[in-house]
Amino acid sequence: MNNDIEQVLFSQQQVEQRLDELASELTSKYQDQFPVIVSVMTGAAVFTVDMIKRLNFKLNLDYVDVSSYADGTQSGKVRLIKDLSTDIKDRPVIIMEDIIDTGHTLKFLVELLKGRGAKSIDICALLDKPARREAKIEADYVGFKVPNEFIVGYGLDYSGIYRNLPYVGILKRAVYEK
Ligand code: IMP
Ligand code: MG
Repeated sequence: MNNDIEQVLFSQQQVEQRLDELASELTSKYQDQFPVIVSVMTGAAVFTVDMIKRLNFKLNLDYVDVSSYADGTQSGKVRLIKDLSTDIKDRPVIIMEDIIDTGHTLKFLVELLKGRGAKSIDICALLDKPARREAKIEADYVGFKVPNEFIVGYGLDYSGIYRNLPYVGILKRAVYEK
């Protein structure tokens, strides 16, 4: 598995240190606010679990799953596969996502949750790939910016694989250019 990685971008130690920093920013902001954390499956699972253990305030944890159509005509169309089980009306929401790429997924989710009456919405993303942005959306909290390459590890996958790598790296092109 490690042989498929071209370059390690952020080691486990670097990721953990950055999570400490993000968590302390969130902990200052969210004291007594009782937010709902909305984790976007499956990519954000590892990030979410490691983050919430560092958050020192009362919260609820819930998750959604989404998929994007890629039929050539409707690029950027996103569909909800698994909905929340928490009522977020008048609740502050923190969306936790693995990476913002084109931005379509997060734009769709922000509009959905606004429509349900969320009191406020913050986006917390482990990674940001600004080179590929199509939708007008930015994260409020970002772990690291990444280059325009295919990234895996720490929850991010290629074809369902590599999510369990404890670091963030660039996947070798040879793995997907076959
Ligand atoms: P977006 O809607 O294009 O912003 O990206 C949505 C999803 O695509 C993310 O939540 C990831 O699951 C996936 N994704 C985007 N870029 C990468 C990558 O470099 N590696 C793995 N997954 C990615
Ligand atoms: Mg995702």
